[in-house]
Amino acid sequence: MSFRRATCLSLVLLTLVCAAAVAAAGGAREAGAQAGPAWLDTSLTPEQRADALLAVMSLEEKVGQMTQINATALQGDPTNPWDRGPLNDQILDDVLNKNQAGSILSGGGASPAVNSPRAWTEMTNKIQQFALEHQQHGIPIIYGIDAVHGHNNVLGATMFPHQFGLGATYDTRLARELASATAGDVRATGIHWDFAPVADLWRDLRWGRSYEPFSEDPFTAGEMVAATVDGLQGGDVGSQDKVAATVKHFIGYSAPDSGRDRENATLTERELRDEHLPSFIRGVDAGAETVMINSGSVNGVPVHASKELITGVLREELGFEGLVISDWEDIIKLETVHGVAETYEDAIVMAINAGIDMSMVPLDATGFTTRLIKVVEQGDVSIDRIDEAVRRILVLKFRLGLFERPLADPNRAEDIEGAHVGLAREAAAETMTLLENDGTLPLDRGRANLLVTGPSADSMVNQLGGWSIGWQGATVPGEVPEGVTVREGIEDAVGRNARVRFVPGVPSGDAAEDPAAQEEARAAAVRRAQNSDAIVAVVGEPPYAEGPGDTTTAALPAVQSQLLDALEATGKPVVVVVISGRPLIMNQQLDGAAAALMAYLPGTQGGRGVADVLFGRVNPSGRLSVTWPKGVDQAPLTHDRLQGEDYDPRYAFGHGLSYTRFDYSGLDSSTSGEDVRLSLTVRNRGRRAGEHTVLLFASKRGASEAFPASRLVAYRKLRLLPGDRRTVSLSFPIDRLAVTSGEGKAVEPGRYELTAGERSTTVQVR
Ligand code: BGC
Ligand code: BGC
Repeated sequence: MSFRRATCLSLVLLTLVCAAAVAAAGGAREAGAQAGPAWLDTSLTPEQRADALLAVMSLEEKVGQMTQINATALQGDPTNPWDRGPLNDQILDDVLNKNQAGSILSGGGASPAVNSPRAWTEMTNKIQQFALEHQQHGIPIIYGIDAVHGHNNVLGATMFPHQFGLGATYDTRLARELASATAGDVRATGIHWDFAPVADLWRDLRWGRSYEPFSEDPFTAGEMVAATVDGLQGGDVGSQDKVAATVKHFIGYSAPDSGRDRENATLTERELRDEHLPSFIRGVDAGAETVMINSGSVNGVPVHASKELITGVLREELGFEGLVISDWEDIIKLETVHGVAETYEDAIVMAINAGIDMSMVPLDATGFTTRLIKVVEQGDVSIDRIDEAVRRILVLKFRLGLFERPLADPNRAEDIEGAHVGLAREAAAETMTLLENDGTLPLDRGRANLLVTGPSADSMVNQLGGWSIGWQGATVPGEVPEGVTVREGIEDAVGRNARVRFVPGVPSGDAAEDPAAQEEARAAAVRRAQNSDAIVAVVGEPPYAEGPGDTTTAALPAVQSQLLDALEATGKPVVVVVISGRPLIMNQQLDGAAAALMAYLPGTQGGRGVADVLFGRVNPSGRLSVTWPKGVDQAPLTHDRLQGEDYDPRYAFGHGLSYTRFDYSGLDSSTSGEDVRLSLTVRNRGRRAGEHTVLLFASKRGASEAFPASRLVAYRKLRLLPGDRRTVSLSFPIDRLAVTSGEGKAVEPGRYELTAGERSTTVQVR
């Protein structure tokens, strides 16, 4: 018997049978009992249930499962896929009934007509309900979203620092906790799948997604990716506060030759395997349920068409068994952008045969499903390949418990509001990286007489960056999240006898570009500066995401450097706080600053995190997770360049000052079996308690064509009270020294120098 809806509708006689079967399936779902079909039997494994369901599915249904559609394509005006109106039954019917689509996503900014946690749950519930009622076997949809720094599309949700700030913390416990908090918020809105973490390796400040990777260091990135996957998925992804993770974007995405998003990366085998692959391996080993593919190409081959990378490397070498999802429109782009396919049909054949299981179509469902059906019927994509893809999708749906609990509770969603505020503040403070300090910091909160100025001092929009409410940032009027700006954080932190004045320093709105208005705004700040003891100037960038964020200069905008120059010329100490998604080229202004703090994109509580560090409530412990070059002409520049390549940045990878001084002594090493063991004594010689991350780098004595000039092999974060001395042990498997050369990946024998700060020791590897 067929459950096909078309059959039900056209054959009057069968209608009753179909209706009864659907009702039976529904009934069994509620009872969770054995009465219904085998796939509803919860005593079977997800794999057994998927097989049972797959056995009765039509090709149309299977193809539907492989289709993911953006929420905006279900809203408002059917002729406008970007209209954010209320859900429209006519398009719901087209996507979820006619096309049997099995997955919905909310891309950046694809929120309900009214953006609130409750409205999100009501929207996802309504879509889910519609799917359950209209899908031939009542298969629930899986809903995905980019919750990359908290549940960042949802107005009312707390947003955490973006990943590149978190990389500076070297704190996997924190990464796990943030991911876990995010998962709870996401699941509460009826969403089961998070397109996070970004496992791409940071390479180039020109790239518009510079703030999304954790680190330029493969080891650190891998540690943070694994912790994030673990925090999102937990031990049981079916729990009501867990979601499926996605390690993205496999692979080489972050290294476009041009520095522009979604372009070609020329990578040697060594770069691919030693630099880009490790964080993906860690994500896969941590059990990530899904992987998203790089929109660009590697060595001229679009990754979406690369069977070698997707099936060869990801599946066969890494042993990844989960679901592979395309990125946004990336199958059709094999034709329309990359030009490697003649037609959309060819593109579909290429991508599905390369190993893509689900297509983030995400606008035109019919365009995708009809063509996929056609190429299967023509024999260009085998039914086995379809079954393999659909089985993975179904297994994930069963693991997530979607058949048992397809809907979320809108009341629970309201708990999101105001949650995790303490955690967000702690996280922001921990990312803070002190670049310069002549002793001006920390400021005295009791007696401060401060000017606070700069375009990012009182801007929630700037401190959240891209992927916040909107794709390009929180730029929709009336939809700016609540939180604490730097100005507010400072005002709240100071004592009653302190004086804090805020003067913007730059004009806003229509006057922003007017030279006379700029001059006037600057003069007002300078006047106030003359009556202040110190100046906190908060500068940086407006928000951006992806291609629109690409830059050829990475410069601090001129109006801001002029403001800093004028303030620095007063002779008053200027504390520069940088809020940006990348290192900025501003050497002269950094030279003239009394202190400089990299605040990254610190999230809704970022202003408190900044104030915590400015006034010394928190001793800064961030260490740059990326190299800060002197000029954009140095890009791409990373500490793990090859031997003999220049490395003369403004701030090296790992740079970060403290309010206290940590001294190292007695670095000793030994090898034991497969491990290298080290001990190092760290002493806090200052008068403040503080956290500190010991970074251990390896370099190879003598020439090597494959071992980088410097590689981070281990780290350890500790907290020391004033005067405390502690001997810490660090160890790492010798494998961590392995490099890829013509002969595959292996450790080159020889002497390796291991360095922590000024201390070093050597080990001999035979
Ligand atoms: C981005 C992905 C994201 C997807 C869905 C794409 O443009 O590259 O990182 O997950 O959109 O929003
Ligand atoms: C969506 C994003 C997506 C991007 C891709 C935007 O309109 O909102 O989520 O990543 O398009 O180009």
